[in-house]
Amino acid sequence: MDPHPLRRRRAPAAAVALLLALPLTGCTAGGDGDGGGGTRGGGRAAPGAAGLRDPYFPRLGNGGYDVRHYALTLDYDPRTGRLSGSADITARATQALSAFNVDLTGLTVQGALVDGEAAAVSRSGTEVTVRPGAAVKDGATFRTVIRYSGVPVTITDAEGAEEGWLRTADGAVALGEPTGSTAWFPGNHHPSDKATYTVAVTVPEGLEAVSNGELTARTSRGGRTTFTWRSTEPMASYLATLAIGRYRTTTSRTGSGLPVHTAARGNPALLGEIPEVLEWETGKFGPYPFSSTGAIVDPLVDVQYALETQNRPFFDKSTFDLPTLVHEMAHQWYGNSVSPKSWRDMWLNESFATYAEWLYAEDFGGTPVQESFDEAFADEENWAFPPAKPPTAEDLSGPPVYGRGAMVLHKVRQAVGDDTFFAILRGWPAKYRHANASTEDFTRYVEAESGKDLSGLWDTWLYGEGRPTGPSA
Ligand code: TRP
Ligand code: ZN
Repeated sequence: MDPHPLRRRRAPAAAVALLLALPLTGCTAGGDGDGGGGTRGGGRAAPGAAGLRDPYFPRLGNGGYDVRHYALTLDYDPRTGRLSGSADITARATQALSAFNVDLTGLTVQGALVDGEAAAVSRSGTEVTVRPGAAVKDGATFRTVIRYSGVPVTITDAEGAEEGWLRTADGAVALGEPTGSTAWFPGNHHPSDKATYTVAVTVPEGLEAVSNGELTARTSRGGRTTFTWRSTEPMASYLATLAIGRYRTTTSRTGSGLPVHTAARGNPALLGEIPEVLEWETGKFGPYPFSSTGAIVDPLVDVQYALETQNRPFFDKSTFDLPTLVHEMAHQWYGNSVSPKSWRDMWLNESFATYAEWLYAEDFGGTPVQESFDEAFADEENWAFPPAKPPTAEDLSGPPVYGRGAMVLHKVRQAVGDDTFFAILRGWPAKYRHANASTEDFTRYVEAESGKDLSGLWDTWLYGEGRPTGPSA
């Protein structure tokens, strides 16, 4: 078997042109202007910034507040494809706010309340501006309720892959990386603003609705069923999911007592491997960071990628295999608990998840990690750009982010030795548990743990153009 089949999305060749449409849609309403210019303390209230200046998605996320909790109350009709409901967003203001933005792609906003009072809403493309009657004070915790509805859109992202809201014959699945979460709820959709979630969704009786975290209620009335899912650990919005369909669901526990919730069509045998994979990963990476696990497998979705949706990764028509399960589960530590500070740091997600596959192939498939490294090294595709500097949004999930990223980790291992390297594998997700980290946080951490100056390694392997030659290789 191919020791590391393609786990990342396969990029459909077409549709690349659509890419810049999303972040560049005009945005002059309300929260435009300087992001850092918030007033402090008793200062004058100003609009929050319309974006967080992500290197790839400058308009993604919003300035001036930090979301603590999303409570989504949704209703979905698979026959019409219509989603309606409300997002009740608890946030803390990081400046005095005369107005602030939320990101939303498609859908229609019916109205908004801020701390129970009607607020004005205006919109320009994916930027929705909420202007409360009275300014929100710096440091205040405030609640915004946004009512919205419509038929959610499927977003074709920079590489031509589909994300956002994906309809199936009997339901739909929401997939959010990197911007698809904007297609099904309004919010601060940048990975740097993590929050806890409650998702209550009502669907026709007979269908299942599965999200992140744990199911806290399931009630049926008048031919409709409401499922309430709660995520108590912080989550980046791109990892939020909702899967609605005629699934077979199971609830069980791993040997160590961790709840396992699965949803699939039929009963794929691979679901039974989840406890063993997690036990092996816990041995390598340290304590599992979440309060439940599982998987969602929907072969009626054909996006040609899997996604590490929090607690329970999603697998489409063709991605539910053991290496991919190992990969997506590794993301629960690397990506989901330790999340990227910006989309430039995505190699931190994919390098560890790919390295997890290499380690697994060594322990269970007899393929030495060095052999996986050598194969990645020989693959021309991995040298297209440095993993920590994807040239455009189109390259964010390109081969260097995965293969060359994993090679960086292997070079670190060779430089610091096995004991320090395996301590770093556990120590990194412990230090940044449920937080965000950047590439620089990582290089600083590795140097501190190893007591070595590794600037040559970073320059060559992480930031350098092309395949290294000579002694540094
Ligand atoms: N993160 C997914 C994986 O590891 C792949 C993926 C899905 C992805 N959608 C993406 C990567 C968007 C980058 C951007 O398998
Ligand atoms: Zn991945």
